[in-house]
Amino acid sequence: MTRTMYISNAVEVITLEGHTDKPAIKEAMSEINVIKNGSVWIEDGKIAAVDTDENIRAKYHDRIHEAEYIDATGKIVTPGLVDPHTHLVHAGTRENEYAMRLKGKTYMEIMNSGGGIHATTRATQQASREELYEQSKNRLNQFLQHGVTTVEAKSGYGLTLESELKQLEVTEKLQKDHPIDLVSTFMGAHAVPLDEKDNPDKFVDRVINEMIPEVARRKLATFNDVFCERGVFTPEQSKRILEAGKEYGLIPKIHADEIEPYGGAELAAEVDAISAEHLLRASDEGIKKMAEAGVIGVLLPGTAFFLMAAYAEARKMIDAGVPIALSTDANPGSSPTISMPFIMNLGCLNMGMTPEEVLTATTINAAHAIGRADEIGSLEVGKKADVTIWKVPNYLTLSYQYGMNHVDTVIKAGEKLVV
Ligand code: NIG
Ligand code: FE
Repeated sequence: MTRTMYISNAVEVITLEGHTDKPAIKEAMSEINVIKNGSVWIEDGKIAAVDTDENIRAKYHDRIHEAEYIDATGKIVTPGLVDPHTHLVHAGTRENEYAMRLKGKTYMEIMNSGGGIHATTRATQQASREELYEQSKNRLNQFLQHGVTTVEAKSGYGLTLESELKQLEVTEKLQKDHPIDLVSTFMGAHAVPLDEKDNPDKFVDRVINEMIPEVARRKLATFNDVFCERGVFTPEQSKRILEAGKEYGLIPKIHADEIEPYGGAELAAEVDAISAEHLLRASDEGIKKMAEAGVIGVLLPGTAFFLMAAYAEARKMIDAGVPIALSTDANPGSSPTISMPFIMNLGCLNMGMTPEEVLTATTINAAHAIGRADEIGSLEVGKKADVTIWKVPNYLTLSYQYGMNHVDTVIKAGEKLVV
């Protein structure tokens, strides 16, 4: 028998429909489509109908008794949120560095003196697969509790072939075991290992000649990411790494212009990256090139918040025609959070985005940023039934009341998971 679910009579169903073929840009980022007194009918894990409750009842009146019934009266319904940029799989925390930064040390000073990414790399290299798996699974559970149903996960705390593979294998196992869908990104070029500081090109060669071929051979990642930043990887090194990944079918992403303008946005357009991420200090020229090339800007306001830095210029990018997605950047150093709802608050309050734009940026545009818009990111017939029900009376409240969790229920591929 068909497995059916009937989510009934929400105050608002926000469908985000109509942006599956291309990410939403400019004014289209505000077209979220709100159905008042809306319902969703699910069959075998897929969305079968989204409409007013009246129309759904009329259409399915002889089958209502067979469906699992979820009363959404007084609540709102959105697509399950999509987080397109995380450093999910890692060991340990860095609250000591947080305390150092509060006393005036900068993020890069800490990294250059052997902490930062290097500290988490040491902890991740030393951790067993089981420890890494458990810590990462706990984070995924929290993502789910905050309404997220798909998460991108980057490696990059291994920095040796063996440790990078360990991280990617943990991601692969979690993808099999956990209800959240994971999308994997190889980020061997996250930092130059301390013992190779004097010869970074040798490390770049190893990423290109040893790591990328093996990761691709074992199909452990879809994307290839590089931290392009002064003192980490230059635009030239980043380009070599991203072009090499392309040869093996890995799609480029870039950590671009996070700390200073460094040509990362421009490079994203040049190598035809699916997205450029961070962009706190992206140049006007870089923004223009991204818009022309259709590169998605994945903005991470949690990182600006936590590093006490100036935020990315979301308004300028949206006006220029860059499709914008939002993400937590969940990681222990620059953004220790898993809360996409908090990212929505920051998007509105500190980057000048509207409540409609942040909804688009955390659902359908985020799905585009990880190449999954054909199956998730909106409530449309035939898409995976990934749905979040929120205990709020309207969608505005999601980006208005902050610092609290409004999730009522999460439905993943038609299964009810969080109550
Ligand atoms: O996206 N910028 C580089 N990578 C991460 C931070 C990683 C860390 O500090 O552990 C980021 O901010
Ligand atoms: Fe990141």
